[in-house]
Amino acid sequence: MNKKYRKTVIAGNWKMNMTASAVKPFIEELKAELPKTKTCETVLCVPGVIIPAMLRSGKDAKIGVGGQDVSKYEKGAYTGEVSAEMLEDLGVKYCIVGHSERREYHNESDFLVNEKAKALLAHNITPIICVGESLEQREMGLTMDYITYQVKAALSDINEAQVRKCIIAYEPIWAIGTGKTATAEQAQEVCKGIRAILREKYGARLARSVTIQYGGSMNAKNAEELLAQPDIDGGLIGGASLKPKDFAAIVKATAQE
Ligand code: PGA
Repeated sequence: MNKKYRKTVIAGNWKMNMTASAVKPFIEELKAELPKTKTCETVLCVPGVIIPAMLRSGKDAKIGVGGQDVSKYEKGAYTGEVSAEMLEDLGVKYCIVGHSERREYHNESDFLVNEKAKALLAHNITPIICVGESLEQREMGLTMDYITYQVKAALSDINEAQVRKCIIAYEPIWAIGTGKTATAEQAQEVCKGIRAILREKYGARLARSVTIQYGGSMNAKNAEELLAQPDIDGGLIGGASLKPKDFAAIVKATAQE
Protein backbone atom coordinates (compact mmCIF):
# COMPACT_ATOMS: atom_id res chain seq x y z
CA MET A 1 0.00 0.00 0.00
CA ASN A 2 1.10 3.58 -0.67
CA LYS A 3 1.21 4.20 3.06
CA LYS A 4 4.79 2.95 3.08
CA TYR A 5 5.79 6.19 1.39
CA ARG A 6 4.68 8.38 4.29
CA LYS A 7 4.99 8.72 8.03
CA THR A 8 2.17 7.90 10.41
CA VAL A 9 1.90 10.71 12.93
CA ILE A 10 -0.33 10.70 15.99
CA ALA A 11 -0.34 14.22 17.40
CA GLY A 12 -2.07 15.33 20.56
CA ASN A 13 -3.40 18.85 20.77
CA TRP A 14 -3.61 19.83 24.42
CA LYS A 15 -5.22 23.18 23.57
CA MET A 16 -5.30 25.41 26.70
CA ASN A 17 -5.12 22.57 29.19
CA MET A 18 -2.64 21.13 31.69
CA THR A 19 0.31 22.89 33.37
CA ALA A 20 4.08 22.49 33.23
CA SER A 21 4.04 20.63 36.56
CA ALA A 22 1.52 18.13 35.22
CA VAL A 23 3.84 17.07 32.38
CA LYS A 24 6.19 14.69 34.23
CA PRO A 25 3.51 12.49 35.82
CA PHE A 26 1.57 12.52 32.54
CA ILE A 27 4.59 11.34 30.53
CA GLU A 28 5.45 8.64 33.09
CA GLU A 29 1.96 7.22 32.75
CA LEU A 30 2.00 7.56 28.98
CA LYS A 31 5.39 5.91 28.66
CA ALA A 32 4.16 2.86 30.54
CA GLU A 33 1.31 2.48 28.05
CA LEU A 34 2.92 3.44 24.75
CA PRO A 35 3.70 0.57 22.39
CA LYS A 36 7.16 0.28 20.91
CA THR A 37 6.67 1.32 17.33
CA LYS A 38 9.04 2.34 14.61
CA THR A 39 6.29 3.16 12.15
CA CYS A 40 4.42 5.79 14.13
CA GLU A 41 5.66 9.12 15.37
CA THR A 42 4.00 10.36 18.55
CA VAL A 43 3.77 14.10 19.07
CA LEU A 44 2.26 16.38 21.71
CA CYS A 45 1.41 19.95 20.73
CA VAL A 46 1.28 21.90 23.95
CA PRO A 47 0.88 25.52 25.09
CA GLY A 48 4.06 27.57 24.58
CA VAL A 49 4.95 27.87 28.26
CA ILE A 50 4.70 24.09 28.68
CA ILE A 51 7.06 23.33 25.77
CA PRO A 52 10.32 23.28 27.83
CA ALA A 53 8.83 20.87 30.38
CA MET A 54 7.56 18.65 27.56
CA LEU A 55 10.94 18.68 25.83
CA ARG A 56 12.59 17.55 29.07
CA SER A 57 10.13 14.82 30.05
CA GLY A 58 9.07 13.71 26.58
CA LYS A 59 12.58 12.85 25.46
CA ASP A 60 12.93 9.34 26.79
CA ALA A 61 9.37 8.49 25.88
CA LYS A 62 10.35 9.53 22.32
CA ILE A 63 7.63 12.14 22.16
CA GLY A 64 8.04 14.78 19.47
CA VAL A 65 7.11 18.23 20.73
CA GLY A 66 4.92 20.69 18.89
CA GLY A 67 3.58 24.20 19.38
CA GLN A 68 -0.02 25.23 18.78
CA ASP A 69 0.55 28.56 17.07
CA VAL A 70 3.31 30.82 15.77
CA SER A 71 3.73 34.40 14.65
CA LYS A 72 3.94 35.12 10.94
CA TYR A 73 6.63 37.69 11.76
CA GLU A 74 10.32 36.90 12.03
CA LYS A 75 10.96 39.14 15.07
CA GLY A 76 10.32 42.59 16.49
CA ALA A 77 7.66 44.66 18.23
CA TYR A 78 4.82 42.12 18.33
CA THR A 79 3.92 41.88 22.00
CA GLY A 80 2.70 38.47 23.05
CA GLU A 81 3.83 36.67 19.91
CA VAL A 82 6.20 33.70 19.65
CA SER A 83 8.38 33.34 16.56
CA ALA A 84 9.30 30.26 14.55
CA GLU A 85 12.96 30.94 15.36
CA MET A 86 12.19 30.76 19.10
CA LEU A 87 10.40 27.43 18.64
CA GLU A 88 13.24 26.06 16.51
CA ASP A 89 15.80 27.17 19.08
CA LEU A 90 13.98 25.21 21.79
CA GLY A 91 13.93 22.05 19.66
CA VAL A 92 10.30 22.09 18.58
CA LYS A 93 9.70 19.96 15.48
CA TYR A 94 6.00 20.52 14.77
CA CYS A 95 3.48 23.32 15.08
CA ILE A 96 -0.26 23.44 14.42
CA VAL A 97 -1.46 26.24 12.15
CA GLY A 98 -4.96 27.18 11.09
CA HIS A 99 -6.80 25.25 13.78
CA SER A 100 -10.50 26.05 13.47
CA GLU A 101 -10.51 27.48 17.00
CA ARG A 102 -7.90 30.05 15.95
CA ARG A 103 -9.71 30.74 12.69
CA GLU A 104 -12.94 31.30 14.62
CA TYR A 105 -11.85 33.03 17.84
CA HIS A 106 -8.87 34.94 16.47
CA ASN A 107 -10.16 35.67 13.00
CA GLU A 108 -7.30 33.88 11.29
CA SER A 109 -7.62 33.99 7.52
CA ASP A 110 -6.37 31.48 4.96
CA PHE A 111 -3.78 34.06 3.97
CA LEU A 112 -2.47 34.24 7.53
CA VAL A 113 -2.41 30.46 7.83
CA ASN A 114 -0.23 30.35 4.72
CA GLU A 115 2.13 32.99 6.12
CA LYS A 116 2.48 31.07 9.39
CA ALA A 117 3.16 27.80 7.57
CA LYS A 118 5.90 29.51 5.57
CA ALA A 119 7.41 31.05 8.71
CA LEU A 120 7.64 27.56 10.25
CA LEU A 121 9.12 25.96 7.15
CA ALA A 122 11.81 28.63 7.06
CA HIS A 123 12.86 27.33 10.50
CA ASN A 124 12.65 23.64 9.76
CA ILE A 125 9.44 23.05 11.69
CA THR A 126 6.68 20.88 10.26
CA PRO A 127 3.43 22.80 10.03
CA ILE A 128 0.36 20.73 10.85
CA ILE A 129 -2.06 22.64 8.64
CA CYS A 130 -5.68 22.24 9.74
CA VAL A 131 -8.59 22.44 7.33
CA GLY A 132 -12.22 21.50 7.77
CA GLU A 133 -15.77 22.38 6.87
CA SER A 134 -18.63 23.52 9.08
CA LEU A 135 -21.79 21.49 9.50
CA GLU A 136 -23.64 24.01 7.37
CA GLN A 137 -21.15 23.66 4.53
CA ARG A 138 -21.38 19.86 4.72
CA GLU A 139 -25.15 19.92 4.66
CA MET A 140 -25.09 22.23 1.63
CA GLY A 141 -22.81 19.80 -0.22
CA LEU A 142 -19.91 22.27 -0.21
CA THR A 143 -17.38 20.19 1.74
CA MET A 144 -14.91 19.43 -1.03
CA ASP A 145 -15.17 22.90 -2.61
CA TYR A 146 -14.33 24.51 0.70
CA ILE A 147 -11.54 22.07 1.57
CA THR A 148 -10.01 22.56 -1.89
CA TYR A 149 -10.01 26.30 -1.37
CA GLN A 150 -8.46 26.01 2.11
CA VAL A 151 -5.74 23.56 1.08
CA LYS A 152 -4.75 25.57 -2.00
CA ALA A 153 -4.67 28.81 -0.02
CA ALA A 154 -2.61 27.27 2.80
CA LEU A 155 -0.09 25.88 0.32
CA SER A 156 0.25 28.99 -1.78
CA ASP A 157 3.94 29.63 -2.65
CA ILE A 158 4.99 26.45 -0.87
CA ASN A 159 7.29 24.48 -3.14
CA GLU A 160 7.80 20.76 -3.60
CA ALA A 161 10.69 20.43 -1.17
CA GLN A 162 8.68 22.33 1.45
CA VAL A 163 5.38 20.47 1.07
CA ARG A 164 7.22 17.23 1.78
CA LYS A 165 7.66 18.57 5.33
CA CYS A 166 4.01 19.56 5.79
CA ILE A 167 1.22 17.60 7.43
CA ILE A 168 -2.38 18.32 6.50
CA ALA A 169 -4.98 17.65 9.18
CA TYR A 170 -8.57 17.24 8.07
CA GLU A 171 -10.71 18.34 10.98
CA PRO A 172 -14.40 18.78 10.26
CA ILE A 173 -15.48 21.58 12.61
CA TRP A 174 -18.67 19.77 13.57
CA ALA A 175 -16.63 16.83 14.88
CA ILE A 176 -14.22 18.79 17.09
CA GLY A 177 -14.85 18.34 20.80
CA THR A 178 -18.42 17.26 20.09
CA GLY A 179 -18.05 13.51 20.47
CA LYS A 180 -19.48 13.31 16.94
CA THR A 181 -16.81 11.67 14.78
CA ALA A 182 -16.90 11.65 11.02
CA THR A 183 -17.53 8.13 9.79
CA ALA A 184 -14.47 6.36 8.43
CA GLU A 185 -15.99 6.73 4.94
CA GLN A 186 -16.59 10.48 5.32
CA ALA A 187 -13.08 11.03 6.67
CA GLN A 188 -11.47 8.86 3.98
CA GLU A 189 -13.41 10.62 1.22
CA VAL A 190 -12.08 14.04 2.21
CA CYS A 191 -8.53 12.85 2.93
CA LYS A 192 -8.49 11.19 -0.48
CA GLY A 193 -9.73 14.46 -1.95
CA ILE A 194 -6.91 16.34 -0.22
CA ARG A 195 -4.38 13.94 -1.70
CA ALA A 196 -5.90 14.54 -5.13
CA ILE A 197 -5.36 18.30 -4.67
CA LEU A 198 -1.73 17.61 -3.75
CA ARG A 199 -1.36 15.35 -6.79
CA GLU A 200 -2.70 18.02 -9.08
CA LYS A 201 -0.37 20.67 -7.65
CA TYR A 202 2.80 18.68 -6.98
CA GLY A 203 2.49 15.38 -8.87
CA ALA A 204 1.74 11.81 -7.79
CA ARG A 205 5.08 10.95 -6.19
CA LEU A 206 4.95 13.87 -3.88
CA ALA A 207 1.26 13.50 -3.07
CA ARG A 208 1.76 9.95 -1.89
CA SER A 209 4.50 11.02 0.52
CA VAL A 210 2.51 13.67 2.43
CA THR A 211 1.00 12.69 5.78
CA ILE A 212 -2.71 13.48 6.04
CA GLN A 213 -4.32 13.23 9.47
CA TYR A 214 -7.91 13.06 10.58
CA GLY A 215 -9.00 14.99 13.67
CA GLY A 216 -12.31 15.43 15.43
CA SER A 217 -13.36 13.30 18.40
CA MET A 218 -10.86 10.58 17.53
CA ASN A 219 -10.65 8.23 20.50
CA ALA A 220 -9.49 4.83 21.66
CA LYS A 221 -12.63 3.22 20.26
CA ASN A 222 -12.87 4.70 16.77
CA ALA A 223 -9.16 5.18 15.99
CA GLU A 224 -8.53 1.76 14.51
CA GLU A 225 -11.22 2.04 11.87
CA LEU A 226 -10.26 5.60 10.94
CA LEU A 227 -6.54 4.80 10.76
CA ALA A 228 -7.18 1.77 8.59
CA GLN A 229 -8.42 4.02 5.77
CA PRO A 230 -5.97 4.20 2.86
CA ASP A 231 -5.56 7.99 2.92
CA ILE A 232 -5.61 8.58 6.69
CA ASP A 233 -2.05 8.57 7.97
CA GLY A 234 -2.56 9.58 11.56
CA GLY A 235 -4.63 11.72 13.84
CA LEU A 236 -4.78 15.09 15.52
CA ILE A 237 -6.32 14.41 18.88
CA GLY A 238 -7.73 16.91 21.35
CA GLY A 239 -9.71 15.54 24.30
CA ALA A 240 -8.30 12.01 24.21
CA SER A 241 -4.71 13.32 24.24
CA LEU A 242 -5.24 14.57 27.79
CA LYS A 243 -5.62 11.01 29.06
CA PRO A 244 -2.43 8.94 28.82
CA LYS A 245 -4.25 5.60 28.47
CA ASP A 246 -6.57 6.84 25.73
CA PHE A 247 -3.79 8.58 23.83
CA ALA A 248 -1.60 5.48 23.98
CA ALA A 249 -4.49 3.37 22.77
CA ILE A 250 -4.71 5.54 19.65
CA VAL A 251 -0.98 5.05 19.01
CA LYS A 252 -1.53 1.30 19.48
CA ALA A 253 -4.29 1.41 16.88
CA THR A 254 -1.75 2.47 14.23
CA ALA A 255 -0.07 -0.90 14.62
CA GLN A 256 -3.22 -2.48 13.15
CA GLU A 257 -2.88 -0.61 9.86
P1 PGA B 1 -11.05 16.65 19.71
O1 PGA B 1 -10.16 17.86 19.13
O2 PGA B 1 -10.24 15.39 19.50
O3 PGA B 1 -11.25 16.98 21.16
O4 PGA B 1 -12.31 16.62 18.94
C1 PGA B 1 -9.43 17.72 17.96
C2 PGA B 1 -8.72 19.02 17.64
O5 PGA B 1 -9.32 20.08 17.86
O6 PGA B 1 -7.58 19.01 17.16
